[in-house]
Amino acid sequence: MNVSNRTGAEPAPWVVIKFGGTSVSTRPRWENIARIAAAHRVQGRKVLIVVSALSGVTDLLKRIAESGSDELAARGAQAEILRRHEAMLGELQATSRETIDALFAQLDRLVADPGRVSGALEWQAQVFALGELMSSTLGAAFLGAQGLPTQWLDAREHLVAQPLANQSAWSRMLSATVPAAPDAGFERALAARGEAFITQGFIARDPEGRTVLLGRGGSDTSAGCFGAMLRAQCVEIWTDVPGMFSANPRLVPGARLLAQLDYQEAQEIATTGAKVLHPRSLGPLRRAGVPLVIKDTNRPQLAGTLIRAVASDAAPCVKAISARKGVTLISMETVGMWQQVGFLADVFAAFKHHGLSVDLIGSAETNVTVSLDPSENLVNSDVLSALAADLAKVCRVKVIAPCAAITLVGRGMRSLLHRLSGVLAEFGALDVHLISQSSNNLNLTFVVDESLADDLIPRLHALLIRADALRAEDGAIFGPSWRELEAAGAPPPPAAWWREQRAALLDLAAQQSPRYVYDLATVREKARALRALGCVDRWHYALKANAHPAILRALHEEGFAFECVSLAEVEALRAILPTLAPERILFTPNFAPRGEYVAALEAGVRVTFDALHPLRHWGELLRDREIHLRVDLGVGRGHHDKVKTGGATSKFGVSLDEVEEFRALARHAGARIVGLHAHLGSGILDADHWRSVYAQLASLAESFTHIESIDVGGGLGVPARPDEQPLNLAALGRVLDEVKQAYPQFALWMEPGRFLVAEAGVLLARVTQTKRKGHVHYVGIDAGMNSLLRPALYDAWHEIVNLDRLDEAPAQMVQVVGPICESGDVLGSNRRLPECREGDVILIAQAGAYGAAMASRYNLREPASEIVL
Ligand code: LLP
Repeated sequence: MNVSNRTGAEPAPWVVIKFGGTSVSTRPRWENIARIAAAHRVQGRKVLIVVSALSGVTDLLKRIAESGSDELAARGAQAEILRRHEAMLGELQATSRETIDALFAQLDRLVADPGRVSGALEWQAQVFALGELMSSTLGAAFLGAQGLPTQWLDAREHLVAQPLANQSAWSRMLSATVPAAPDAGFERALAARGEAFITQGFIARDPEGRTVLLGRGGSDTSAGCFGAMLRAQCVEIWTDVPGMFSANPRLVPGARLLAQLDYQEAQEIATTGAKVLHPRSLGPLRRAGVPLVIKDTNRPQLAGTLIRAVASDAAPCVKAISARKGVTLISMETVGMWQQVGFLADVFAAFKHHGLSVDLIGSAETNVTVSLDPSENLVNSDVLSALAADLAKVCRVKVIAPCAAITLVGRGMRSLLHRLSGVLAEFGALDVHLISQSSNNLNLTFVVDESLADDLIPRLHALLIRADALRAEDGAIFGPSWRELEAAGAPPPPAAWWREQRAALLDLAAQQSPRYVYDLATVREKARALRALGCVDRWHYALKANAHPAILRALHEEGFAFECVSLAEVEALRAILPTLAPERILFTPNFAPRGEYVAALEAGVRVTFDALHPLRHWGELLRDREIHLRVDLGVGRGHHDKVKTGGATSKFGVSLDEVEEFRALARHAGARIVGLHAHLGSGILDADHWRSVYAQLASLAESFTHIESIDVGGGLGVPARPDEQPLNLAALGRVLDEVKQAYPQFALWMEPGRFLVAEAGVLLARVTQTKRKGHVHYVGIDAGMNSLLRPALYDAWHEIVNLDRLDEAPAQMVQVVGPICESGDVLGSNRRLPECREGDVILIAQAGAYGAAMASRYNLREPASEIVL
């Protein structure tokens, strides 16, 4: 551990280590605790262990607390608690019979107490406290027997809760607040007694000496309080996950471990949904400057999440997206509210009266909407109807529940807004009840119906990464993904071809720079992987992605037909492959001039029409022709809005409600519609997309007479960022097969571009200059947006490495920029590269698709040349 906030010669520091329910429920777990404590002792640290109740015991105590008149139920739960602890006692071979028997007797008295029937708060606190009292007693005995003399400490002697103004009786007893601060007297007194202690999480006393509880997650809070009081070197929260993640890993397997957070960010993440740490634990630690680290009991070698004061000059960035469920919204409607003096005061008085704390607030001319967080409130239907009745005196009330509050957390949220357009668009499609931006600039929250949350979180997480708002590749902030941690030990994916060809590539760059280099073996490999999907009857290569002659020849040899978007593409293709049958060329123009259709039809190329205009005005061209119809199925998909080619705002295709008219015009012109076609966008990684396109087109095709083929387009994506998952080809095969079984009468066609060539190409460039301006480091290279436009146009992410220094560790965060006179001439932002020198060769990966194809001579700079390896 390298966290220390102390200076000078001081007595041995304290460390507070906290273990939750599952971490104290078996003998091996206790052996683990003994090991961790002993390791600290060896390092000369004094140790305070904070434990929760054995797992499941708090639930059993809850059954007793809620048993009311059902004494049998209470006795059943009591017996089960005894059984659990007896079993543990046996397993630990610990000898603390007397103390544990005294605690059993206390439980017995409490079950018999009349307080049970009324559920008195004071009685409840005493019942719940027994779980931790018992587990810590067992623990003290076990650790002592292991040769680690550990004194048992009653937390209630040291943690004193302070009632807060307007706090409800419920929260004063069961969710109390301890204002812990460094306490030199306590530290000295404890140090005088010994060097290793064990105490209870979750419990404290109030100023009258009664037992109180610290609420859900209260053991973390206890650890935080003790850590602050002792000015510990560190507080360690040992749990069964590796730390905090950028999203709930159960919903988002690609969620990244958060390596480092400052207190406030961690607090926001904990408050807004992450269950791994209770938010109240952080306040005392922040004030005392004590760091906290979350560690995984099963994988102690992982660094976990370190939370401390970080002087961060890093760019603003979203750290996490969380969802809090069970949120209740209260919407209050009135006419001319702002004109009404004291309206808000009246409204909030009602909340105060019912002991409810308000979380989020949204207001409009005639409406105030607030949210209640169930973890801080006792929100039940009785309380709500009483509140609603009171509020009804001053306004019209609507209770909206259950809702979920979805929160983006990160420092400097406001300066990130420009990156959040994709996220906002997702919410734009939903009914958002409330949007709130915290005044500390740390979070942005959207409240939606609870049922939407689980679907939304993974999509938003991916969008944030794509928009560079959550910079998952920054190793200083983000650790491995949950998926990677789970797969640890599995064989690594094969390395990209260019790593093996490094020497050859360095030679090529020395001869000329910048230049694109293509690897035909990769093109062929991708082609074969696609052709292995037997259900596709004809594969076309969309040559707009890369029309290099060697690639066209290779794909021709692999059995591909071709899809062209301009007459020039058709002509270039025919010049390179003179023997290619024209009917193996599919021409899919959009707003092309009449002359291109004339030439293509005359050459015998298949032509797709995506508008009514050609049929209305050039009908004479179409007599006795076979034509294909491109429809717009109403939605677009893709890696960026600019590559979505379906939906109301896209210029492509004939919309479904105009298909009838298209057919009538075709009939009138004497043309036969033999194919239906849809291509809704580019860079799609989800196989189900093509199921839906195929099924819709096939069902539409049944109402036509001459349809022979159905073309479900291209758009097959390639994962760009390290956390994206490749398109599952086996799954693609399965979904296509499924639809084909229902519509065997139509041939199935596809027309991918990117999938075949993206990974086969790299762009090599050389470092021209480096520069530092303010905090920002630039690495300039001789390739700019005129060679590779995708980052500037789509915020596309391409892996960038220094090929000369592949094995050197990253030195700093840099902006990789080109020589073009545009601020957008950035090939990669916020990349960690080794120290770059003038002349170093920089490799930009996955540049085979839409790289050279989209290059220009802007600034009269020649774009990168092309060469095949
Ligand atoms: N078919 C049609 C009708 C298309 O318009 C396209 C691409 C494709 C097939 C091939 O799509 P692919 O499989 O390559 O995704 N410049 C953008 C991509 C634009 C795609 C345009 N149309 C990019 O660099 O991401």
